[in-house]
Amino acid sequence: MQALAAAGVSWPAFAASVAAALLVAAVVVRLCSEAARTGKRTSTGDGGAKARLPAGTLGWPLVGETLAFISAASSARPESFVENRCLRYGKVFRSHLWGSPMVVSADPEVSRAVLQGDASTFVPWYPRSLMELMGESSILVLSGVLQRRVHGLAGAFFKSAELKARVTANMQIHVAAAMDAWRTGAAGAVRVQDVAKSIVFGILIRTLIGLEDGPEMNYVRQQFCIFIDGLISLPIKLPGTQLYRSLQAKKRMTRLIQKIIQEKRSRRIIEGKDFCGAPRDLIDVLMSNGSDELTNELISDNMIDLMIPAEDSVPVLITLAVKYLSDCPLALQQLEEENMELKKKSDAGETLQWTDYMSLTFTQHVITETLRIGNIISGIMRRAERDVEVKGYDGLVIPKGWCVLVYFRSVHLDGGVYDDPYAFNPWRWKERDTMGNSSFTPFGGGQRLCPGVDMARLQAAIFLHHLVTNFRWVAEGDDLVNFPTVRLKRGLPIRVTPKS
Ligand code: HEM
Repeated sequence: MQALAAAGVSWPAFAASVAAALLVAAVVVRLCSEAARTGKRTSTGDGGAKARLPAGTLGWPLVGETLAFISAASSARPESFVENRCLRYGKVFRSHLWGSPMVVSADPEVSRAVLQGDASTFVPWYPRSLMELMGESSILVLSGVLQRRVHGLAGAFFKSAELKARVTANMQIHVAAAMDAWRTGAAGAVRVQDVAKSIVFGILIRTLIGLEDGPEMNYVRQQFCIFIDGLISLPIKLPGTQLYRSLQAKKRMTRLIQKIIQEKRSRRIIEGKDFCGAPRDLIDVLMSNGSDELTNELISDNMIDLMIPAEDSVPVLITLAVKYLSDCPLALQQLEEENMELKKKSDAGETLQWTDYMSLTFTQHVITETLRIGNIISGIMRRAERDVEVKGYDGLVIPKGWCVLVYFRSVHLDGGVYDDPYAFNPWRWKERDTMGNSSFTPFGGGQRLCPGVDMARLQAAIFLHHLVTNFRWVAEGDDLVNFPTVRLKRGLPIRVTPKS
């Protein structure tokens, strides 16, 4: 995802690696030009044309303003870095972050224009270690026709009613099993984040590569943990480094996935060339497309890359929702009432369908508000492929080669957009629309709009339904950490009591 979205990296280790990475990267990337540091007018990358840069500063030589950004991001108000500069320079300003000159946008309309830009204007940009790990054919890095094809196929599959029905059945079984174990109370406090992570990862692996619970699933879990630790690390691939270990883990997962693809291909040959049964997983979907570009290598690489945006974000969404509900008894009560009403259906012997969960209006408002206030993905980054004029800011230009940080967090917490923006208030969504709203973009937008939107909402709704209809709980104290990823420091331990 964006630069800061890597899981399981401790702060001191991360700070040290960022500082070192920046120095290494700075040597190879670029020195900040004095003109760009101080001047309002500067040459653009197109060779000489004068363009007006957004106001701001590029900060210190080499490290720019990255350390100030990290310091704010690690505080209780991560948005303070952007907020302070918005006050000084306006909602679009220039900076220098992660080794690159950067235009930062906290303006919803400018951000929308950036998100909607095609490959001729903006391409995704990630720090080098992330690029190394993802590889060139990753959907997260690809641009143009191939990205649209993979995105379209994955999006259609994730949104399909068949998959939602299967995920619902699966999730119900695994949530019920996990919560049954809570009833004995033997486990003491349960950590919501860990339970959600374990359930959601299993479902994700089933959806992507079709593995069921067993040794191979455990192997993927284990290798993925090693892989993800390298997402933000020094961009050095020598034996012994984190990046090297992560690349090795990716290779091992790739070998297993290639074996799965090979077996599927052999089965198809045996069952006949025209075999086109309903796809069970995303590998089936991509294989069935018949495009020569969708090679075994591209498919297997992408299965792992697709795990990156999905594996952590949904468990964190669930955990944050439980946290906010613990602090807001009124919302919890209304959520409980809505879900108890639905439970009457299952008590009467009916099996709940995905449509039942998705039509829980207040539950969806709770999820929406959690996405707004929790800012699981605080922003995304792009690199300008040519000089791009900033929409609505007469004459301002993002120069070719510069990066843009589209910072959702500041918009989601903007008092001009949301009344009392730091208050958890699911009721505000009674009157507001989440679709086509440039001030609410937790899933990004444009051609790269998250294809997992429905899946994330569905899984969160199922988890919440089973929790509030079966248990009361008291949350133990925990700290919300925002950097490098959003999470609860202790995984949100709760003490549960079964409802009679
Ligand atoms: C709370 C949960 C989630 C959040 C907040 C979230 C957020 C995002 C955001 C902001 C982007 C845009 C990235 C960009 O523009 O560069 C994105 C892209 C993506 N997400 Fe999600 N996501 C979530 C869950 C999921 C799930 C469950 C899946 C898969 C099942 C998924 C798969 C993807 C993929 C494949 C992309 C890349 C799309 C592309 O570049 O074409 N996400 N997500």
